[in-house]
Amino acid sequence: MTHPKQTVLETISGRWRSQTLYAGARLGLFEALGGGASAAEDVADQLYLNRRATYRLMRALACLGFMTESPDKSFALTEAGSYLRSDHPESLRGVVLLEEGPEHYAAWKHLSEMVRDGGENGFQRELGRPLFLHVAGDERYGRVFNEAMTSYSASETAMFLEALGGRDLADVKTLCDVGGGHGHLLCSVLARYPHLRGTVLDLAPTFENERALWARRMGVESRCAYVAGDMFKQVPAADAYLLKHVLHDWNDAECVQILSRIRGAANDGARLFVAEFVVTDAATPHFAKLFDIHMMCVSSGEERTAAEYGALFEKSGWRYVDARHSSFGPISVVEAEIAAQGARHG
Ligand SMILES: C[S@@+](CC[C@H](N)C(=O)[O-])C[C@H]1O[C@@H](n2cnc3c(N)ncnc32)[C@H](O)[C@@H]1O
Repeated sequence: MTHPKQTVLETISGRWRSQTLYAGARLGLFEALGGGASAAEDVADQLYLNRRATYRLMRALACLGFMTESPDKSFALTEAGSYLRSDHPESLRGVVLLEEGPEHYAAWKHLSEMVRDGGENGFQRELGRPLFLHVAGDERYGRVFNEAMTSYSASETAMFLEALGGRDLADVKTLCDVGGGHGHLLCSVLARYPHLRGTVLDLAPTFENERALWARRMGVESRCAYVAGDMFKQVPAADAYLLKHVLHDWNDAECVQILSRIRGAANDGARLFVAEFVVTDAATPHFAKLFDIHMMCVSSGEERTAAEYGALFEKSGWRYVDARHSSFGPISVVEAEIAAQGARHG
């Protein structure tokens, strides 16, 4: 068992680890090492970096398990390091570039202040506007953000499909992924269920880079439409809705607005599948409880328990059905159906 003092020390150096990883990904060290072992100075020359500093960075990355270092100072990628390459099918490069990049790094420094005053989120304090306005208004950040969402999805889609289980969607003909980004999740569901047609709803700038959209890449473009719009104002009609990492961006009142808008557009008998990091009971540690602090820093949202999602459903014309958890990752799927008439309070 780890000594309690060691736990403190390892936590103190947590940011050093993630910044070391960020620098390696940002500078392209993982791409440069792809083919096999390389000397640090060859990597440095290839990337126009300082040789001595590159060696020190690679040595630290090896110490963290992302590379191996040989006595001749040549380095090779480990399996963990290969996830930082952009050509890995479940690449996490986009995630580290977003979460340890300058905006999110700076947003976190407001945490103590936010806990003291409970006011606006750290991103807004730091950058003067909320995250999604910054995504639309800053070309570089928008690209990094959308790449990260796809990067998260590359791992999470499998967790979602597992948590969905062999759920029979025979009664569903049309599916809408609200805030669906580039459509990785929706297109994966369309690929699994060939009878379905689907719509990805997201803000217009999300679709600007056509090559990043998944429908054609997954061969489902004849059954998938991308619709630019604002989910607070209008949502396409469908038999079922997906919302992955959308409700956690918003406070309760905003979630009720989104869910009510979907309820207003939904076809008779519609179902809702909410994929999130769902907070577990007090005794059980879960990544959701840490990600919740991240949401406090970058948005007005939070991570919630299944019961808290149930309460949001009740206020917006939906009825909680159940929550299913992936066996190999932190994603859960909370399902709702249209509440009986008269059960709507919001
Ligand atoms: C945290 S991302 C999740 C993306 C995607 N569902 C996923 O899991 O990869 C939230 C998404 O909501 C979209 N979004 C934010 N505000 C929106 C709005 N008002 N209308 C539609 N989409 C919105 C963002 O552009 C972004 O793609």
